[in-house]
Amino acid sequence: MIQSFASSYDTIILGAGAAGLFCAKFAAQTGAKVLVVDHAKRAADKVRISGGGRCNFTNMYASSDNFISANKHFSKSALARYTQWDFIDLCVSHGITYHEKTLGQLFCDGKSQAIIDMLLAEARGADIALGTTIDAVRHDGDTFHLTLSGRAVTTRNLVVATGGKSIPKMGATGIGYQIAEQFGLALTDTRPALVPLTFAPQELEWITPLSGTALDARVTANGTAFDEALLFTHRGLSGPSILQVSSYWRDGDPITVNLSPNRDIFGALKAARSENGRRQMHTGLGTIFPTKLANTLAERLGLSGNLADHSDKALTAIADALHAMELRPVGSEGYRTAEVTLGGVDTDALSSATMEAKAVRGLYFIGEVVDVTGWLGGYNFQWAWSSAAACGRAI
Ligand code: FDA
Repeated sequence: MIQSFASSYDTIILGAGAAGLFCAKFAAQTGAKVLVVDHAKRAADKVRISGGGRCNFTNMYASSDNFISANKHFSKSALARYTQWDFIDLCVSHGITYHEKTLGQLFCDGKSQAIIDMLLAEARGADIALGTTIDAVRHDGDTFHLTLSGRAVTTRNLVVATGGKSIPKMGATGIGYQIAEQFGLALTDTRPALVPLTFAPQELEWITPLSGTALDARVTANGTAFDEALLFTHRGLSGPSILQVSSYWRDGDPITVNLSPNRDIFGALKAARSENGRRQMHTGLGTIFPTKLANTLAERLGLSGNLADHSDKALTAIADALHAMELRPVGSEGYRTAEVTLGGVDTDALSSATMEAKAVRGLYFIGEVVDVTGWLGGYNFQWAWSSAAACGRAI
């Protein structure tokens, strides 16, 4: 790793994150002169903190169906040519052991640093300049002229791998979008995704006291549903099911929460009633939900009396309400905590085989800066690896 760099390269990669470092591996393999530039002091900081420090580096079931993009076919070619199995093989060859946590999500057994060490080892043919600012980018029709930390550098190929806008505190800047615009490439709307949803004060009145309570739920936004854990927090709702639907939710839309997707609430209440009809309604709900949540739900639904006071019809109405609770978020926690940025460089402007801009020879966009956004569960890193491989092999 160097902080100094030469004045001319075959390829310069902007961003020493997941996609940038992985692209350097392929770009430098042929003996080309490659420089990776990042303003951060350390490479791949998001890899370091990802997956709670154990990096959910891919998903066994990754396919284009797990990605959101204005063109749902765009990711297919890259994902097919560098698959999750290719990345898993690479990890194995570096002695990285892993496990499936849930739903095909693969995590390191040890720390995420093992993935960073592997990326750096694989990119050893490239120069890596950290703590380096990107001051200016210009193209004369043939060569790119960059000013990096005040120094002029030229390159034939320029790869933009500067990620999205999420977590500015970690160095996210959105510079990739500015470079795309500078070269006339269209952008799709960007918004925080994989992010907790926030609620108005009257909803928070009952949500906040439940802070820390988690349960399996099915959450639906705009027709897309996810069956995963839901977590009540002091700001609203979080947990995997909420993060997943946040990518589909739009301002003003409701979300529908099925609080018991795997258990028939009516059947459970009826059974509780036959067992002991003198129990109060919140105690009956307590056979299905954590006690605190059962009490809150009984209060919210205005349930009084005991189970025996409730006819089948009344129990059905209660069950229906809890299998499809409509809530209206007022917003999200924003880029401060969002795991990714939805939207980005319009895929219409790029080749799906190489990630090269159709209108500017030698200019490439890879990783999160592109309008390809994965679900929660290792998909976003797989897109970083696959798009980086497509580009790096083509250069
Ligand atoms: P990435 O953000 O990794 O890299 C971009 C690089 O560009 C950074 O190093 C940055 O410093 C640099 N840069 C930006 N602006 C610059 C500028 N102006 N000048 C110079 N350099 C600049 N995904 C997943 O699949 N599994 C997981 O477990 C997780 N976990 C996770 C946790 C948290 C907290 C977050 C925030 C995100 C995740 N993700 C994830 C998402 C994943 O981290 C993300 O999709 C990839 O890191 C994207 O890779 P890129 O290389 O495109 O951008």
